[in-house]
Amino acid sequence: MADESAPIEAPRSVDEVVVLDYGGQYSQLIARRVRECGVFSELLPHHVGAAEVAKRKPKGLILSGGPASVYAPNAPKLDPGLLELGIPVLGICYGMQLVALELGGTVESAEVGEYGRSTLTVREHGRLLAGTPAEQPCWMSHRDTVFAPPPGFTALAASTASPVAALESTERDIYGIQFHPEVVHTPFGQDILKNFLRDVCGCDLTWSAASIVEEQLARIREQVGDKKVICGLSGGVDSSVAALLVHRAVGDQLTCVFVDHGMMRKNEGDQVVQTFRDTFKVPLVAVDAEERFLTKLRGTTEPEAKRKIIGTEFIRVFEEEAAKLAQGEEGARYLVQGTLYSDVIESGGGTGASTIKSHHNVGGLPDDLQFELVEPLRALFKDEVRAVGAELGLPERLVWRQPFPGPGLAIRVVGGEATKERLDLLRDADAILQDEIRKAGLYRDLWQSFCVLPDVRTVGVQGDERTYGYVVVIRAVTSDDAMTADWARLPYDLLEQIAARMIGELREVNRVVLDITSKPPGTIEWE
Ligand code: XMP
Repeated sequence: MADESAPIEAPRSVDEVVVLDYGGQYSQLIARRVRECGVFSELLPHHVGAAEVAKRKPKGLILSGGPASVYAPNAPKLDPGLLELGIPVLGICYGMQLVALELGGTVESAEVGEYGRSTLTVREHGRLLAGTPAEQPCWMSHRDTVFAPPPGFTALAASTASPVAALESTERDIYGIQFHPEVVHTPFGQDILKNFLRDVCGCDLTWSAASIVEEQLARIREQVGDKKVICGLSGGVDSSVAALLVHRAVGDQLTCVFVDHGMMRKNEGDQVVQTFRDTFKVPLVAVDAEERFLTKLRGTTEPEAKRKIIGTEFIRVFEEEAAKLAQGEEGARYLVQGTLYSDVIESGGGTGASTIKSHHNVGGLPDDLQFELVEPLRALFKDEVRAVGAELGLPERLVWRQPFPGPGLAIRVVGGEATKERLDLLRDADAILQDEIRKAGLYRDLWQSFCVLPDVRTVGVQGDERTYGYVVVIRAVTSDDAMTADWARLPYDLLEQIAARMIGELREVNRVVLDITSKPPGTIEWE
């Protein structure tokens, strides 16, 4: 099983900046923006302390924002050792308040908080704000406010409600900003981050996700040697990119296993097989397990029961194939997993301290199957994995594939049994939706788009005939992380075209409706 709390292997020959997470909603975004500037960054929980930070030999340290008041009894404190590491420090929002308080500045709770758009008025650009306009928009989210900088610090700028919205001491190499440079509503945020990374920390801005491919290949070869490796392919971008990287590194020592549970989208199974076996020549075992899953699902309508059956059966099938491939002296000893950096962060940021929860991509393989894990994507965010996928020549369709739930279409055939007939009808309706969404150029803008097939039939009239057909629901949402989602405002003309095609091309469908529920209160899936 994956141990997401184990350290990630940082790239070897590039500069790194550590971001300490004080619980702010944008902390991951700070780490991503630093990487977008060309500097590798790790996000660590705030409680790790100076020694853990020092281990990374970073060229700079960023303290994130956070929801607490610096005066709250249980508010995360600043480890003063962090300011003594001999590297520049940038505090953002809560991070700046912590630094200001620690070094003798005045931080107080303002009467009104400052939330959303604000205007930054620069008094002195200093090193941090160099090259940015004297007046610029910025994004704020705070109540505690720095009223006076610590002795020896210069107050660089003020905002509508913050007398000190940016400060620095070049002598101590400590910097702070009250606003959020990482969000798009701070248009010069990236310039300010670059000032810090390049001019203050002296970083080379040369890191990119694609640039680590060569290094990863060497690492995988080092780890695996001449042993055999297996990889469970789901058709999603993570397992696809992980598999391709490993195949590049060790060639046919890798065998991929693709379990088609019969709940995939139309032609999706074929596309996976075609891409990997035919185009990339990756040895692939494709298991057609449709019948097996359908038999197990017979008579089950309750959503969680469906999930459980599919999850358990999936592991069984994979386990059987893995056991075959692991047999004998020459058998597979390594298992590839597409664990991402966001999974690592949620499990303690690779500091060995599992704090929130553990993710298990392949779930419980039995103990007597002793695989060592190969996780070449552990240091990467999702969008970076896509960049690596594109670099490796993965087709656009796979690189930009929308998330798809493990139990697949079974949880979209709702209020009844997932039979072959209903799954096929849903697959056909879904294929029309996907086709039209792609043609309209909207596929990448949507977090997910899919159809739901409730167990409902309604009366209609087609030609001169009364019909009694199924209702198809269109579900399309925008989202950043699936925690919240908004229903997508698809153009009316597009909706009309989709409905006309579904009703015209699918004899069993005579009505199409649109789901206009956001999350919360709804969930993205219907079951
Ligand atoms: P909900 O429906 O809870 O979904 O808003 C949030 C995200 O998770 C996906 N999802 C699943 N993924 N197994 C998965 O692998 C599941 O059982 C499952 N249920 C929901 C969903 O598609 C959305 O992206």
